[in-house]
Amino acid sequence: MEQVFAVFGDPISHSLSPVIHNAAISALGLSARYHAFKVRRENLENALSGAQAMGFGGVNLTIPLKEAALKFVEPDPIAGQIGAVNTVDFKNGMRGYNTDGIGAKKAVESAGISIKDKTVLLLGAGGASRAISFQFALAGARLLIVNRTEEKAQSLAQDVSVIGKAQWFGLTELEKHITEADILINSTSVGMYPDTNNTLVKKEMMHSNLVVFDIVYTPLHTRLLKEAEASGARIITGEKMLIYQGAEAFRIWTGISEPFDVMNKALLTALGEKQ
Ligand code: ATR
Repeated sequence: MEQVFAVFGDPISHSLSPVIHNAAISALGLSARYHAFKVRRENLENALSGAQAMGFGGVNLTIPLKEAALKFVEPDPIAGQIGAVNTVDFKNGMRGYNTDGIGAKKAVESAGISIKDKTVLLLGAGGASRAISFQFALAGARLLIVNRTEEKAQSLAQDVSVIGKAQWFGLTELEKHITEADILINSTSVGMYPDTNNTLVKKEMMHSNLVVFDIVYTPLHTRLLKEAEASGARIITGEKMLIYQGAEAFRIWTGISEPFDVMNKALLTALGEKQ
């Protein structure tokens, strides 16, 4: 019988997760299919129980369900600390994981960049930033967290300090701290379609030894990454995080490694990018 995997969220129609997973499933020759379902927050518990009862192979969660899921699943320690779940596995009850930060870590590492002992300046303190900061701290990075709303940067830095090194700053101190950074990660929505001309950092503030990773992938070459290239910095585009977080979820569910190149090709086609 065909194994069913799914992503739940609301809105969900633009999710690219079915595109990348179904491309990988076909390439692997598996009898499986990955579907997107619109699930409202108040229906999450029923939807998860239904998926479990119907023998789904696994479920991903996206906006607005990641935090709400903590009430219904047993989170692994890191998902519990992050405070959000994007992957639910039904093998032993209903276990919750968060693969977003692992996806970001693999995106950086796959560019041949090691994270241990690096100074990572993280722009943002929202949901994605929390997942990224915990995984990068675990991997031995020193984090500088910068956010428009300073209290959120402070609170995230305090939480991350339990497992690693983290300091926080307001946006006004951004320029000063970029000089110390080896890796700059934008985990805010700034620069995302339709506001594609926006960036929190311009080329004058960057240096040529910097690696700049933008988790925004609409467009792939954000204004931030264009500024980074103009300053001589190395860039990493955001679609890699989407692919690697998905592949990590599939590995948790099945133990199978999905092929990156197949997923990347399908994703770039869906995004209308030239390959
Ligand atoms: P996600 O789950 O994608 O991380 P989120 O939790 O809503 O989304 O977080 C969005 C992040 O982008 C936050 O860090 C937000 O800053 P605030 O905490 O100050 O709201 C940041 N962000 C969004 N728009 C921004 C803007 N115009 N300038 C600076 N930061 C912005």
